[in-house]
Amino acid sequence: MPYADITGWGKCVPPAVLTNQDLMTFLDTSDEWISSRSGIKERRISHVSTATLAAMAAKRALAAADLDPADLDLVILGTACPDTLIPNAGSAVQDAIGAVNAAVFDLNAACTGFVYGLSVGTAMIRSGAMKKVLVIGADRIPYFLDYTMRDVSVLFGDGAGAVILEACDEECGLIAERLGCDGDARDILAARDSGTVRERFAGVDGFYDVNFEGQEIFKRAVRGMGEAVTSVLDKAGKSAEEIDLLIPHQANIRIIETLMKRLKTPEEKVVVNIQKYGNTSAATVPIALCEALEEGRVKPGDTLLTAAFGAGLTWGAGLIRWGKRVTPLSECKEDLPPSDKTALELLQPWIEGCQQAVAARG
Ligand SMILES: CC(C)(COP(=O)(O)OP(=O)(O)OC[C@H]1O[C@@H](n2cnc3c(N)ncnc32)[C@H](O)[C@@H]1OP(=O)(O)O)[C@@H](O)C(=O)NCCC(=O)NCCS
Repeated sequence: MPYADITGWGKCVPPAVLTNQDLMTFLDTSDEWISSRSGIKERRISHVSTATLAAMAAKRALAAADLDPADLDLVILGTACPDTLIPNAGSAVQDAIGAVNAAVFDLNAACTGFVYGLSVGTAMIRSGAMKKVLVIGADRIPYFLDYTMRDVSVLFGDGAGAVILEACDEECGLIAERLGCDGDARDILAARDSGTVRERFAGVDGFYDVNFEGQEIFKRAVRGMGEAVTSVLDKAGKSAEEIDLLIPHQANIRIIETLMKRLKTPEEKVVVNIQKYGNTSAATVPIALCEALEEGRVKPGDTLLTAAFGAGLTWGAGLIRWGKRVTPLSECKEDLPPSDKTALELLQPWIEGCQQAVAARG
């Protein structure tokens, strides 16, 4: 049975930076509160669509693997923020990168979307059905936020990350995983009217009814990710000390620290970039993986542990045995189209729309 080596990786974060100070211009908050409670200093706001971010990350991953997009058998786009529901956003990515021979689907497991996608893509290769798979995590959660809610609207940012999986005979890639979902708690992190449940022609246009119970999510995240990593380590017959690098979902620095404590993982073995990007949902894990590779923190044959949780409440963990190559084979010279707008300018219509909608509701 073939394994699914990770042969390419790429990320795309939009250029506009939204700092904690920017948030203080319209929310009753402070840099001190946001950094001490979440670890976040700044996040990025996109001037392009989810599919455009995803396609750029994908092009960079294809370059790193030196792979012709026409050779891809499958594109999995992990996202909870598709630009359109019909058709899926993955088809726009396929079109943009020229993956003309690939099957394509979106996978919505919210922040766990990349870990779920990695599992599905790996299984397709291991079954022998496919040989080359592109897995992307891309999200724009800030699009859905209620900018009058100071707890939730400081946490998220936009971004995308991608990997290429290729069939290989040596034991590498995702070697064990555990995925799950606590559907009984699906309402505690929700944009309640974000699909066909929304009454057409009624309600306040453009406003999403966001429900966010931070402390309960926090507790469940710690439990879900904790159980998932323990189960994955058991499955693989590994101890936590054998992990070379922990790449956790970046939702809150205190959640990451709790996981580190549980696994007794020292700081130098953990990838943390939440201060720069906030929670980019399905993109946190692949972006963190890319940065770890860029910084030379992944060595050939290393054992990586990843864990994530998100709306649903989905959760999951995966153990990855890295292959031989830790440097890209080539580089993609393209970039996103330029924008002259600041992050606050990009957000302004949504901030005003939310303020007006909340005022109208009394
Ligand atoms: C949201 C979160 C950071 C809040 O941290 P917390 O320590 O639980 O804070 P609390 O909710 O207890 O709020 C404490 C106080 O800070 C206030 N507060 C909330 N957001 C604030 C903000 N941005 N700025 C200043 N004060 C804020 C609250 O109103 C509350 O005030 P009160 O005590 O007067 O009522 C935390 O619960 C969290 O990260 N949860 C997980 C959420 C998550 O990651 N979701 C994504 C899943 S993928």
